[in-house]
Amino acid sequence: MSQLPATAPATIGEAFKHINAVTHPTLDDLKLMVFLEASGQSSYLALAEGAPNAGIAELLRANGREEMDHAQRVSQAIRRLYGVDFPPPTAEQNPYAGGPAAPVTRALLEGVVRGEDNGCALYMTWADNTADGEAAELFRLNAVEETLHGQRAAQAITLL
Ligand SMILES: [Fe+2]
Ligand SMILES: [Fe+2]
Repeated sequence: MSQLPATAPATIGEAFKHINAVTHPTLDDLKLMVFLEASGQSSYLALAEGAPNAGIAELLRANGREEMDHAQRVSQAIRRLYGVDFPPPTAEQNPYAGGPAAPVTRALLEGVVRGEDNGCALYMTWADNTADGEAAELFRLNAVEETLHGQRAAQAITLL
C-alpha cells in the first residue's frame, strides 16, 4: 500500500499550499500529488451528496471520477521517472480524504473554478519542466482536464 512521504504536511490545506508552490516536482512531491488527487474524488463525491439539484450533483461527480484518473496518471509518471510502484490510496488509506463537505454555494463553486484553473497552470509548469516526454504528456492530460473541471464548476454556478 502506498504511504504518504514522512515530509508530507498534516492537513490538506497545508498540502495544497505546498504543492501549489512546486515548479520542479521531486518524488515526494509527486507522491503527495497522488494522495491529493485521490482525495479530490472523495471531496467531489461528498459535495455532490449535498448538491442543491441533480444537475449540479452530476457535474461534481464527473469531476470526482476524473480526479482519480489524475491520481493514476501521476502514479504512471512516478513509475516512468523513478521506477517506483505507487498506486493511488483508497479513501480509507488517505488522511486527506473524508473531511466534512461544505454546502454547495456560489462562493464555494467560484473557489472550485479558481482551484481547478490553478491546477491546470501547475500541471503545465510541471510538464514544461519535465524532460521525459511521456511523463510530461501525462501532466498535460491532467492539465487539460483541470480546465474542464473549472468549466463544469462554472456551469454548476448557472444551475444554482
Ligand atoms: Fe486533478
Ligand atoms: Fe480537477
